[in-house]
Amino acid sequence: MRLLPEPSAQSLRLIFLLIFVMGVAPSPALTAGCPGRCMCDDQLVVQCVGQQLTDFPTDLPLATRQLIISNNRIGELPALQLNYLSDLVYLDCSNNSLTDITESTFGNLRKLAYLDLSFNILINIDDRTFGPLASLVMLRMTDNPTLSEIHPDAFAENLALQVLDISRNNLTALNITTLIALPALRSLGISGNPWRCDCDTEDLCLWVQIEGFKFQAADVMAECRGSTSPFLTKSLRTDCHQTLGYWDYLFFIAIGFVIFSTGTVVAWVMEEISCVREVWWS
Ligand SMILES: *[C@@H]1O[C@H](CO)[C@@H](O)[C@H](O)[C@H]1NC(C)=O
Ligand SMILES: *[C@@H]1O[C@H](CO)[C@@H](O)[C@H](O)[C@H]1NC(C)=O
Ligand SMILES: *[C@@H]1O[C@H](CO)[C@@H](O)[C@H](O)[C@H]1NC(C)=O
Repeated sequence: MRLLPEPSAQSLRLIFLLIFVMGVAPSPALTAGCPGRCMCDDQLVVQCVGQQLTDFPTDLPLATRQLIISNNRIGELPALQLNYLSDLVYLDCSNNSLTDITESTFGNLRKLAYLDLSFNILINIDDRTFGPLASLVMLRMTDNPTLSEIHPDAFAENLALQVLDISRNNLTALNITTLIALPALRSLGISGNPWRCDCDTEDLCLWVQIEGFKFQAADVMAECRGSTSPFLTKSLRTDCHQTLGYWDYLFFIAIGFVIFSTGTVVAWVMEEISCVREVWWS
């Protein structure tokens, strides 16, 4: 076994100095204090639950790792204040009055693993909204009765995403092209939406049908079946990718006949004309 070299007196002094400075200097969590109507603990958890807040709390400790602001009436997540919290891992904004989140809202939250936006009044989700959240593992965005549109590429960059719950919104269609490409996704909640179940959502329904056992989406199929469209009662593929039917064949035969007879008539007329000319010139 090798012995470590004796530390020199100078390096010892440095180490003591460092310990002293760390012990005396207040942590960033303490320097920033705790916002009114919130509770902060030394684990860098800040809770401001059910305080009838209408605005995002100010003066949050910069080192906050968990922020829980659920059950308030906060109408906006201010990008500037939120993005100071670059160590944030857990953010629960459920049950507020959020209407709009944009690309800049989460621009700097690269460590965020959990995000809850349920029980808000979000309207639509753009493609870059969650782009910066490279560490996002779980996204809950349920019970937004106004949420009618999610951009096809909304989750395209969330390669760490494992659990996505978009149940009980107002979604009628969802393009799953980028969703099914997510390598880590293992749970998807999509029930309780007014899925339109036509050819626009064909991929979604087919995918759920095939992969449904992996996901908490079994009732989606029931909803699709219950809908008025003939979708799923027959095979999806034949409904949406119609092959030629009986009338199509009749139509093509009729068109073919018309072209053929026109050709024949034209040829006959031309022949007649040339005969007449021959007679005329002779
Ligand atoms: C939302 O918050 C309000 C006010 O705190 C509370 O009364 C209500 O039960 C909450 N709703 C949900 C679904 O948590
Ligand atoms: C849900 O979406 C439909 C259109 O698809 C719209 O007419 C309706 O107003 C929306 N509902 C809410 C609560 O926004
Ligand atoms: C779904 O989204 C992908 C990627 O944005 C796009 O290429 C594709 O055309 C979309 N499909 C439909 C049916 O809109």
